[in-house]
Amino acid sequence: MLYSDKVMDHFMNPRNVGEIEDASASGTVGNAKCGDIMKVDLKIENNVILDAKFKTFGCGSAIATSSMATEMIIGKTLDEALSLTNKAVAEALDGLPPVKMHCSLLAEQSVKAAIKYYYEQNGGIPEDKKHLFDVLQEDEHSV
Ligand code: FES
Repeated sequence: MLYSDKVMDHFMNPRNVGEIEDASASGTVGNAKCGDIMKVDLKIENNVILDAKFKTFGCGSAIATSSMATEMIIGKTLDEALSLTNKAVAEALDGLPPVKMHCSLLAEQSVKAAIKYYYEQNGGIPEDKKHLFDVLQEDEHSV
């Protein structure tokens, strides 16, 4: 199995590992098939993600995608972060082997789970955004 240099870099030197003590929101998701788990903490102010940290108990692709995903959402608005797809994260890593694409879904799901929690704590999920969280309903991947 061939991994890109970027995947190897983010796996060997993951960015934004850890927890945010005064996080505005957290999202934890898991893949029921492999048992891997990913948790993302977000610090949010005025609808902007000021900081993001993750902890991933999982494979190299899951670690690399969570590292890249946090890099991609820091400094972004919630709307911008909600448009993040697992495909975009994988592309930013110069691709993942097809058999490992499902690992990148954890990154998209954990970010969305955290933003969903944030909305629920702050007035509810806007009606026009509810469909963006459908990805969390996939039994195979959510806990
Ligand atoms: S094998 Fe489980 S997330 Fe990669």
